[in-house]
Amino acid sequence: MNLYSLLRPLLFRLDPETAHHLTLTSLDLLAKLGPLNPLRQRFPSLETEVMGLRFPNPVGLAAGLDKNGDHIPGLAALGFGFIEVGTVTPRPQPGNPRPRLFRIPQAQALINRMGFNNLGVDHLVANLEKLGPRSFILGVNLGKNKDTPQDQAVEDYLTGLEKVCLLADYVTINLSSPNTPGLRDLQHGQALDTLLSRLNEKRARLAEKHGKRIPIAVKIAPDLTPEQLSEQAQCLVRHAMDAVIATNTTLDHTAVASLPHGGENGGLSGAPLRDKSTGIVRQLHRLLGNDLPIIACGGILDASDALDKFKAGARLIQLYTGLIYRGPKLIETIMASLLRSGGARTR
Ligand SMILES: Cc1cc2nc3c(=O)[nH]c(=O)nc-3n(C[C@H](O)[C@H](O)[C@H](O)COP(=O)(O)O)c2cc1C
Repeated sequence: MNLYSLLRPLLFRLDPETAHHLTLTSLDLLAKLGPLNPLRQRFPSLETEVMGLRFPNPVGLAAGLDKNGDHIPGLAALGFGFIEVGTVTPRPQPGNPRPRLFRIPQAQALINRMGFNNLGVDHLVANLEKLGPRSFILGVNLGKNKDTPQDQAVEDYLTGLEKVCLLADYVTINLSSPNTPGLRDLQHGQALDTLLSRLNEKRARLAEKHGKRIPIAVKIAPDLTPEQLSEQAQCLVRHAMDAVIATNTTLDHTAVASLPHGGENGGLSGAPLRDKSTGIVRQLHRLLGNDLPIIACGGILDASDALDKFKAGARLIQLYTGLIYRGPKLIETIMASLLRSGGARTR
């Protein structure tokens, strides 16, 4: 019995967002006492190089849990090899009205329609500037403001890239959250081509100015046809992207339709997303081989889910909903299992 399994019934009595803030604030306090994961020391067999960056272990925090970068030291104490903060937009915005986050415990799932509630990129930048030396990789996930017109969406990503490029190890271009109208349209055809070209131009200019080329990952939706996925994969390679994150939440609620909250609007995450998301990783790996590293995310609730993602072709994994249901012990459990199975190189 670990501490989180004792606390979880109490937390689950609270509204999900209140529980979220309470947990992160308590974590910040606990982390001041020292590392919280006994496996946090370096294990060479867990180290892995992806996007030209050295990851101390392949288990990361997915975007959305620490949107503003307010809790990075606390989260780092849990032993993540990498932490992705955001989604952050150029200007602060409140997100959708509450309630906007729902637990579906019978299915080990969540539905959210947060809508990129965040304090804006300048707040995040101020937090990143305060960080001392780091032993983990830091990613920043970028999005567009809801009220930015669709034909100016690219500018929002360029602004984000410029503001964080010296502070982040990599950035993620989030084209797949279902709660910002029009965002997922940027994943296809000419819109994707133009966005990636402009990002590359900007990245080259920033590299010339600062002497640092920042790796870019693109985060995709699980709700794509095989044709759309193939077209997208080719586009990412053509534009020399550094990784693809598969996947964000799904709009397919079939698995939870009969359960309380199953009909809420928003993206579904957790166990019902697992196989769909792993299927996308497998398809991407078939399409891309080793041309583009895959970061797998979606429905990882135990060590065998994590191993399945690596077997499907992932190089790194990210967790979100699993942490809500299983607590931070999940990170240690996955790391221990990877150590037993010879690291992340399970293929
Ligand atoms: C409450 C909540 C908020 C999220 N916010 C973001 C976000 O801001 N940006 C993003 O790229 N993904 C966001 N996600 C998606 C997660 O990063 C992840 O891709 C998805 O939940 C699937 O992983 P999981 O099944 O392990 O949760 C959010 C997920 C949840 C549950």
